[in-house]
Amino acid sequence: MRHLLVPNKKVQAALTEITKYDWLSKEHRIFSSEDGNNRLIPISVSANINLPKPLCEFEIVFSEGKPNEIIDTDWWNHLENLVGKDTVIEHKESWPSSHEFFGDMMIVRIDDSIEKYTSKIAQAKLLSHPFIRLVLSDGGVMGELRIRDLKPIGARKDSELYFDNIPSELTNTKVSVKESGRYISCDPKVAYYSTKLQTERLETLRFAKELRNELNRPLAICDPFCGVGPALSTLIAEEDLAGNILASDLNSSAVELLFENLKRWDKREYPTKSEKLQQYYDDRIVGLADATKLSQNPQYSGKWDLVLVNLPHRTIEFLPDLIPLLNRSDVSLIRGRVIVAESDIPSANSKINEILPPILAGKPKPELKIKRDYSSTLRLCSFEAWIGKDTT
Ligand SMILES: C[S@@+](CC[C@H](N)C(=O)[O-])C[C@H]1O[C@@H](n2cnc3c(N)ncnc32)[C@H](O)[C@@H]1O
Repeated sequence: MRHLLVPNKKVQAALTEITKYDWLSKEHRIFSSEDGNNRLIPISVSANINLPKPLCEFEIVFSEGKPNEIIDTDWWNHLENLVGKDTVIEHKESWPSSHEFFGDMMIVRIDDSIEKYTSKIAQAKLLSHPFIRLVLSDGGVMGELRIRDLKPIGARKDSELYFDNIPSELTNTKVSVKESGRYISCDPKVAYYSTKLQTERLETLRFAKELRNELNRPLAICDPFCGVGPALSTLIAEEDLAGNILASDLNSSAVELLFENLKRWDKREYPTKSEKLQQYYDDRIVGLADATKLSQNPQYSGKWDLVLVNLPHRTIEFLPDLIPLLNRSDVSLIRGRVIVAESDIPSANSKINEILPPILAGKPKPELKIKRDYSSTLRLCSFEAWIGKDTT
C-alpha cells in the first residue's frame, strides 16, 4: 500500500494534513523507516492519486501495510471472549487475522479446520469493526469470470447482529468503493474486483505516462478483461492521458457495473443494462465481448497503444490473440499479470519473449516480477513489454 515517507520532525504536521482529508488508513499503523530518520504513514486506498500540497512534497513508498494492533487486539479479545482462550490458542495459526474491506462489507477466508466457529468469527469481526454492515466468507475465485464464492456469515442492523437466517435486505453486496479519489461501483458476488490491486493500477498509470511521453499524445487504451473498470478509473482520472478506450469483459454483470462507473467517470450516458461491445462515443467502445475474438474485427485490431491483460491464469495462452490489437505504427505497451509456479518463472519468461514481437530498443526484455503469493507454490506476477514500431 501507499505510505508517505515523512522526516520525523515533520510527522505531526503531515498527520494534521492527512487527517483533514480523512486519508489515514484506519487498518494500518505508522512505522519507522529502517534508518530511523523517517516515519512511513499508511495512506488509505481512497486518497487521491495526486496528493495536494504540502503532502505531495513527501516521497511515496509502496510497502506492505502493518496491521493496526489496536483493532487487531480488539478482534482477538472478542474472539477469546466468544470461544475461550484455549480454543484461540489451539487454532492460533488458522484464525482469519486479516480481511479485506469492501465499503461497509468485510471479506474473510475461513480455514476448514475452524469452520465450526464461523458465526463466532463473524461476531468477533463485527464487534471489533463497528462500521461494518456485512461479513462474508470467501470460498475463493471461481471459473472463467473469476467471481468469488461469497457467503454472508454475519450482519448488523442498528444494534442488532445476525448470524443465522440473515434477513435478505442485509445481504446486498453491491457497494461503492473509493479508490484513488474516485468511486467504483462493484459487487464482489457477481463480478471480479479486488481492492488489493491498487498498487498494481498505480504502476500501470506510471507506465502509461511514460508511454504518453514517448508518443507525445493521449493514448489509445484497450482493457479487454476490464471487469468493472478499476484500471480505467485510474487512467481516465489523469488529465490528457486516455484518448480512445476499448473496455470489454465476458461477464454481463461486470459490464453493467462498468457502464455505471463510466457514466460517473466520463460524465456521459451509458446503458443501464449490459450490451454487446459497441461504439458509444467517438472515443469509447464498451461492452460484452470475448477478448480472444476482438482482433478478428478490423475495427478493433491494430488500434491500441496500451493493452492490459488481466486474466492471470490464462494470460500467456491468450497473448497471441491479443498482440494483433496493438498499434504497431509506433511504440506500444502490453501490461500483463500471470499466475505461475515460482520454479516455472524462467520458462514462462522465455515463452512470453517468444510470443511477443520485437522489444523496443533500449528497453529491457519483459520479465515476470513476483507481486505476491497466490498459494503455497503459485506466485502472482506482472510484466510490462515495450513493443517496438513495426518497420517491415
Ligand atoms: C482477474 S479479472 C480482472 C478484472 C479487472 N481487470 C480488474 O482488475 O478488476 C478477469 C476478468 O476477465 C474476464 N474474462 C474472462 N475471460 C474473458 C474473455 N475470454 N474475454 C473477456 N473477458 C474475460 C472476467 O469476467 C473477469 O472480469
